[in-house]
Amino acid sequence: MSLFWSLWVTVLTIACWLWILYWLVGTLGYRPKMEDDGTTGHEYDGIQEYDKPLPKWWLIVFFGTMAWSVLYFLLYPSLLPHAWKGITTVEINGRQEPWTSENELLSDLEKNNKTFIGTFDKIVQDPAVTAKLANLDKLQAEQRKNAEPNADLKAQIDKELVALAPTVEKLSKDPQAVKIGQRLFLQNCALCHGSQARGAVGYPNLTDNDWLHGGTPERILQTIEHGRVGAMASWKNQIGEDGVRAAAEYVLSLSPEHGSKANGELDNTLVTQGKAIFDANCTVCHGKKGKGNPDLGAPNLTDNTWLFGGDRETVRTTIRDGRAGVMPHWDNKLGNQRIMLLASYVYSLGGGQPVAAK
Ligand code: HEC
Ligand code: HEC
Repeated sequence: MSLFWSLWVTVLTIACWLWILYWLVGTLGYRPKMEDDGTTGHEYDGIQEYDKPLPKWWLIVFFGTMAWSVLYFLLYPSLLPHAWKGITTVEINGRQEPWTSENELLSDLEKNNKTFIGTFDKIVQDPAVTAKLANLDKLQAEQRKNAEPNADLKAQIDKELVALAPTVEKLSKDPQAVKIGQRLFLQNCALCHGSQARGAVGYPNLTDNDWLHGGTPERILQTIEHGRVGAMASWKNQIGEDGVRAAAEYVLSLSPEHGSKANGELDNTLVTQGKAIFDANCTVCHGKKGKGNPDLGAPNLTDNTWLFGGDRETVRTTIRDGRAGVMPHWDNKLGNQRIMLLASYVYSLGGGQPVAAK
């Protein structure tokens, strides 16, 4: 706080305090001239005024609040707050820091986090996991220091995440863990994926067994830790509007109900032209048979699950303009324990794939 505002606060506070004290003491000592009938002689509307002492309880409360305020001046940064930090402290990271609302929040967060991690450790009951998590924390802290993520460190982090996958699988069968995971999901993820995790247009359904980025516990962990970006370029310049129409028709022909019933009969000439375009441009990501590639987040185009919609116009729009779904990263927002519980919850929703062979 700057000196000006510091003085502003201080002068106002002391002036108010003295002003009130002045009136209180003044009133106590004031004795009005009394009339013979024992009143002050003031009368209004037939009501006469006596001079009775102020009630004791009221005085005690009043002086009490004034004394209380002096105590506050000592405990908290109040008078000259730019210099006087108060004698109250809060504990952050094992150190006593002067009280500020921010420090109090940090201290509370730290305490909650300790309780949370304690609960987590109790559910997991495995010192090896605690050690792995500590190592992961260390690697991530190291990574955060780099302006650009270091590839070696990223590989080590991913290795740790893979090593934690069996724990995620175990936790996904523990009702308490899944319940906490679900609560975390409602707080952090439901906004995009829906409260039932069933997704919406552009936001994948996490309860089916169709995965953009893979449904094994380690893949789910990595998705939540690092986030994902679905990079599907716009094709209108490369293949033109006719190419877009043909490619869309071929994509529709790959899925069992041809995208949706509303699409009606497919145009076979377009399908044939589209296949050539697809084989030349799209198989790098979506695979020769259009079954997708979890390493690139490229969806399987041969099922009838659509991220953006399977009607003809939407498929054309996808190909014409491209798509770039963004799943945020949570590594430094939630911490690894919460992410493990979230991954367990997502994995417990069904549709999860077994842990990869180790
Ligand atoms: C801002 C919106 C948003 C929020 C919040 C969000 N997600 Fe996502 N999530 C996405 C999008 C978009 C994708 C798909 C990315 C893509 O297109 O490749 C995704 C993908 C995923 C996937 C991969 C699905 C697959 O098929 O491979 C998982 C798992 C997931 N999210 C879990 C979570 C969890 C757990 C949280 C909460 C911690 C969360 N998401 C919060 C938008 C969000
Ligand atoms: C660089 C890799 C890449 C190439 C090449 C590519 N795609 Fe994609 N495609 C993706 C990704 C990644 C997504 C998911 C986008 C997202 O999640 O936001 C996607 C999404 C789609 C979808 C939406 C599926 C749904 O479920 O809604 C269609 C349709 C599609 N691609 C068709 C094509 C066609 C046709 C071509 C060739 C002209 C093509 N893609 C080329 C990566 C690619």
